[in-house]
Amino acid sequence: MDYKLMVANKIAQASGLDADKIYALMEIPPRSDMGDFAFPCYTLAKELRKAPPVIAKELADQVDPAGLEKVEALGPYLNFFLDKGEFVGNIVKKILESGVEYGNENTGTGKKILVEYSSPNIAKPFNVALMYTTCLGNALYRMYQSEGYDTVGINHLGDYGTQFGKLIYAYRMWGDEAALEADPIGELLRIYVKFHDEAEKNPALDEEGRRHFKNLEAGAEYETGLWNRFKNLSLKDFQKVYDILNIEFDSLKGEAFYSDYMPQVIDQIRAKGLLTESQGAQVVMLDEWNMPPAIILKSDGSTIYCTRDVTAAIYRKQTYDFDKCLYVVGSPQSLHFRQVFKVVELMGNEWAKDLIHVGFGLVKFQGMKFSTREGKVFYLTDLLKEAIQRARDIIEEKNPELENKEEVARKIGIGGVKFIYLKNSREKEIMFDLNEVLNFDGETAPYVQYTYARGRSILRKNVSTGEGDLTALKEKEEFELAKVLEHYNDAKREALEKYEPSVFTRYILDVAKTFNKFYNNINIGNSEPSLRNARLKLVEATCQVIANGLGLLGIDVVERM
Ligand code: ARG
Repeated sequence: MDYKLMVANKIAQASGLDADKIYALMEIPPRSDMGDFAFPCYTLAKELRKAPPVIAKELADQVDPAGLEKVEALGPYLNFFLDKGEFVGNIVKKILESGVEYGNENTGTGKKILVEYSSPNIAKPFNVALMYTTCLGNALYRMYQSEGYDTVGINHLGDYGTQFGKLIYAYRMWGDEAALEADPIGELLRIYVKFHDEAEKNPALDEEGRRHFKNLEAGAEYETGLWNRFKNLSLKDFQKVYDILNIEFDSLKGEAFYSDYMPQVIDQIRAKGLLTESQGAQVVMLDEWNMPPAIILKSDGSTIYCTRDVTAAIYRKQTYDFDKCLYVVGSPQSLHFRQVFKVVELMGNEWAKDLIHVGFGLVKFQGMKFSTREGKVFYLTDLLKEAIQRARDIIEEKNPELENKEEVARKIGIGGVKFIYLKNSREKEIMFDLNEVLNFDGETAPYVQYTYARGRSILRKNVSTGEGDLTALKEKEEFELAKVLEHYNDAKREALEKYEPSVFTRYILDVAKTFNKFYNNINIGNSEPSLRNARLKLVEATCQVIANGLGLLGIDVVERM
């Protein structure tokens, strides 16, 4: 129910003015003792030819009081106080009736959205740096899906480019079959690092790398065989990470997939008269838009990252006919995407406006000693293991009797890490500090998970004895909590409009904080039975909202911790 609209209609009825116009003028008072909605009457002074305070007084008497506690004229303002018990009762009822579907309003029915995220480069370890795109993209994916969008999650694997020529050559020279079987990513990393060390001494090696990549592009058997093997081994390794994170993709088409489609796209670009030769390369000039040229073909005739992205965009439009296609990729690639989108537009595709780069900033790690193994890589699995270990230590100290410690530690550790990437505005730099990640009193997943577990524990200890009178929930803390619970979909909608899950994450934090205020000030167990039962329903509704909300962030709740 839209309470603002309810009030706007009342004002419209009393004044004879247009409800939409009134709705647009209504305000939220700065303090709760001034009511829940305010209407500034000076906006009507001209039309009604009266002084604003006079209008306010007259309307206060004329407004239909149903559903309201009171209406007060305060100077030129008309302040509305909702009937608290009715408001709280309605929202609690709605949440409990909707259950896991609470907060989903199907705003996306009939619309298709592609979310490209994660996109690691094969033959390399799953680096911590990939955690940002992975968490952000997956949260957006889940949120769109919850709104009824036809959602396609794409993992655009980095499986193409000269580096694979280098890797094939390196394996031919220094590869160790047994090591590749035992620890594929470790072995691939080792020979890749070795290649670079050797190439520094002997630049002819780079030429070998290029030659092997050309063979790969031409479909040569040896190169293609090895490349396939590297790719499958990598995918297996990545899958372990995605399993831990509970993430699934609908499409795993990497850059290489587009090689068959590239020639025809390049022909189209040429046919549009967009290609210019520059130092032997074929480029699209973009100086009119203050961008450097987009390279489509390098001087040796091979394609490049940009060519593959232009091709992928066109392929996706043809395949999915999306309403929007999001690219969740770090902000340092923002120029690249502006170039790609511009080329797609210049080719005559008006839908280029539906390609959206969702960028994000840097993450700095603080106070952590990680073994960086070879090649100075910071493995994501090491970070997650450490987070889980610290969660285990905390549980061991706080609740050694807990039954399923291992499962709880995993949910808290992984949830804690994910939450850090989701609570900050994505363009901002993040300071990642594991102590902060698992701080039960901070703005963290464990804090929210703990709040949920607290709610569940109240429900276990106080068995409800009946329906209870929900309209008896009139205390300030109850009303405040209900108001926050009611905002769920607004927060989700705003998050999606801005491609900014942090708006929603902060909302969930707000739910937890407001619940804890309620919990600290209201004595649930000792209230008289009908009120106590109603309060338990409010607790149950809050738990539902927290579980639904964390679910959209890919974070699990726990019953006890
Ligand atoms: N694999 C790339 C990297 O690690 C990210 C791919 C981003 N997506 C894209 N369509 N270019 O930098």
